[in-house]
Amino acid sequence: MKNRTKMNQIKISANQNNQRAITIFLATVFMFVVSSCSSSKENYSMYDLKVNDLTNPTGIDVQPTFQWKLNSDGQNVAQTAYQLIVNDDDGKEIWNSGKVNGDRTFGIAYDGPTLKSNGFYQWKVISFDNHNHQAESEWQSFSMGLLENGLWQANWIEATIVRKQKYVNQDKFAFQNASQEAIDPEKFLDAPLYFRKSFQTNKKIKRATAYASAHGVYNLYVNGKLVSEELAPGFTVYKDYLEYQQYDITKELSQNENVLGVILADGWWSGTWGIMGVGEQYGTTNALLCQVMMEYEDGSTEIIKTDENVKWNTGGFTYADLSEGVKFDANNEITGWMLSGFDDTDWKAVKVVNYGYANLKGRRAEPVRIVQSFHPKEIIHSPKGETIINVGQNIVGRLKYRLTGKKGQTVSFTHMEVLDKEGNFYKNILGIFKSQKDVYTFSEDGTFEFTPYFTFHGFQYVLVEGLENLNVNDFTVEVLATDMQRTGTFSSSDSNLTQLQQNIFRSQQSNMLSIPTDCPQREKAGWTGDMQVYVPTAMYNMDVKAFLSKWLTGLRYEQFPDGAVPDMCPRPGKNAEMFDNECAAGWGDAAVIVPYRMYQEYADKKILTDNYDMMKRWMNYIATQANGCLWNAGFQYGDWLVPKTPDKYKDKYSSIFDMAALSGPTVASAMYAYSTSLMIDIAKTLGKTDDVTLYTQQLQCIKEAFSNKYIAKDGMMEPDLQGVYVLALDLDLPSADKKEAVKGQLVANIHAGGNHLNTGFLSVPFLLDALYDKGHSDLAFKILMQDTEPSWLYEVKMGANTMWESWDNIAEDGTPKVASYNHFAFGCVGDFIYRRILGLQSSEPGYKSFVINPDYSSGLAQASGTHETVYGQISVEWEIKNNKTQLKVSVPVGTQATVYVDGKPVVVGSGKYNYEF
Ligand code: BGC
Repeated sequence: MKNRTKMNQIKISANQNNQRAITIFLATVFMFVVSSCSSSKENYSMYDLKVNDLTNPTGIDVQPTFQWKLNSDGQNVAQTAYQLIVNDDDGKEIWNSGKVNGDRTFGIAYDGPTLKSNGFYQWKVISFDNHNHQAESEWQSFSMGLLENGLWQANWIEATIVRKQKYVNQDKFAFQNASQEAIDPEKFLDAPLYFRKSFQTNKKIKRATAYASAHGVYNLYVNGKLVSEELAPGFTVYKDYLEYQQYDITKELSQNENVLGVILADGWWSGTWGIMGVGEQYGTTNALLCQVMMEYEDGSTEIIKTDENVKWNTGGFTYADLSEGVKFDANNEITGWMLSGFDDTDWKAVKVVNYGYANLKGRRAEPVRIVQSFHPKEIIHSPKGETIINVGQNIVGRLKYRLTGKKGQTVSFTHMEVLDKEGNFYKNILGIFKSQKDVYTFSEDGTFEFTPYFTFHGFQYVLVEGLENLNVNDFTVEVLATDMQRTGTFSSSDSNLTQLQQNIFRSQQSNMLSIPTDCPQREKAGWTGDMQVYVPTAMYNMDVKAFLSKWLTGLRYEQFPDGAVPDMCPRPGKNAEMFDNECAAGWGDAAVIVPYRMYQEYADKKILTDNYDMMKRWMNYIATQANGCLWNAGFQYGDWLVPKTPDKYKDKYSSIFDMAALSGPTVASAMYAYSTSLMIDIAKTLGKTDDVTLYTQQLQCIKEAFSNKYIAKDGMMEPDLQGVYVLALDLDLPSADKKEAVKGQLVANIHAGGNHLNTGFLSVPFLLDALYDKGHSDLAFKILMQDTEPSWLYEVKMGANTMWESWDNIAEDGTPKVASYNHFAFGCVGDFIYRRILGLQSSEPGYKSFVINPDYSSGLAQASGTHETVYGQISVEWEIKNNKTQLKVSVPVGTQATVYVDGKPVVVGSGKYNYEF
């Protein structure tokens, strides 16, 4: 990701002669330390400074909380004190924490005088360590948004346009057939709106700050320059939570006529998304809110705002839909409309509307950005004679075009993820308004640049129609994602396993665009189940703290009054989803699992306290649905997407929904046990002793009922599905006398399937651990390294560069199927690879203390990787050569690791260590 590896500063002062730190042995264990890598010149430095989990955030609206990380070449280094200073925009100190003793480096709350709305601040921190060093950061920044609603002076405005009648999809299964071919998007999709306001500034500007939000997605231009974020204001639970953005536009303004120009498109608000391709989910009109707060050198202020004087029009965009794509006719474009001197007398007057400001909120997470851009790999001419751009990697985003053509010529670009067996273009995504097609018409001869804003596609291959003699340099791939910090890397001597981790990362990046989604092309939907299945791996790979905290805020808003938690967050605005079921086990459980896992990773209790009420209400809801202690009623997705229906069930359970019904009651009851067990832990952490008692009793009751009802004496379970055994074992559900038998059944099941996984959505994250923890690490590794279908490495073998929705997306003979090639859910194995092959396991929230215990029995000769924790970077590198194992580890400042050396635990403080055994 862009600019992410750059440290914020390195500035050190050592008050004492640097000395080689002494390794302390906190365990009396014989170990083979080849060398400890501390240099004689110890560095103590600071990096990754953040406010509210974000780097130099703008427009925040909650009190700042500060954090930083420390680096040192020494060993057993810990911070002993810090001093934090906050200055205002004029460089005047407004808060100095003084020297605060302790090793805390995150969660430090601002404790100075009230921060001002629209205020800009700098901060820095000085950290002192236990070796008499100090590190001082460079100045960092943050700015406050509009903290009181009264500061909003702008009016919500709308265009006086009559929108087209929307397409009503009657076919629930349209996503499986090509029925969209008959639908002309132009008949149903509306043109983006252009808004224009010019204003005069005669005084010297000190600072000008623009605030904007919309019903729809907007591009804000100041004197023709695009200043806004991608796809702003993003996707949130709009009724309660609409984000506004803050932009410093001081440099863009001149001291004469200035022009604010906005293009407003449908986005998630009124554009199409979801499996049914339904539009206008949150409203039938789009609206804009924008104000510029001017501060002049002479101390005076002024607010320029959207009001009845704004003019609107439509231009070159015929439509710009989130899912379908963008159609642009240059013949209709209005030249110079964003610039001063343009005559807008024939533009139309806007309508002022009153949507209020109550749901507006400032920045809570990273924005969507272009996180990578590159030229496509190649132009292909298919056997059918098609011209296809291969960008070289399945990605999410768009192509930016430089097009050469003649007046009236129309070119189109259709985006899909795979080619067919013969190498022809293949539509793997079907459904209403899911063509992922951008269309451009020339207004004159020549070369023109065009960026299809306001949409994003999931693709690797682009079918080009109406254009010849293509050159890859005329196209730029712009990868779009919420711009989060990468926190995990992995490589190994097995290139397929290394590729698998890369594919997992790619699918994560692809499915974290404003919200976590199931897939970026077909649905773009925030399915809660997908997120809970994947959350541990997500946190290894990226710093998702702000992103998921924001999403959980939405989930709290979406929880139903009876405590049910929806399958999707945000919920679709129209009750048009697939099967009208809005709550299921394993999906709603995200309300407990996601915050629980986040607390383990980030050690921030606020995640638990913020969400505790939601969790409890969810648990109470299940109790109302359950029969006694089993949740075996109502609709369930069960162990969704079991790869192979066992022969004995084939006749009666032919569809995926039959299979859902078959596994539903057992799986829902197992998930009930799982969430209950997490609630015990959470309640303990928060000191809620009554709840600890309540959930402990409840778990006991669920376990007993489960074991009695679903597990026979010989360990046979009902239903007889691999995932059901996996859940039972890993969640410790069988009574003591049945445990061995259940394990026997699971192992037999796996052997009978030729050492293949046959787990569905909810059990797959538990599969390898269930085996590993019960003494079958060999079988766990066999499944991990399996390369025939269904397996992780089969996908890699078949050329996958992202994670697929189904294990058999491409058949052995190369035939692809209609499905998503970018679903992160089955990437949940990434977590196992980090924990078992690198052997990196947290033993205290935030990795304050952790274990490094690589398993060398996987058949690999070498593995290495890193994980950036809240304390700093852990790295592990091991290699087996000439019957010797070399292990190199690095332990962050302020933490303690238990490193297993030749099977024996060695406790070390921070530093770098090499071992050979
Ligand atoms: C999505 C899944 C989701 C599921 C619900 C699918 O269409 O792509 O990932 O969780 O529906 O079962």
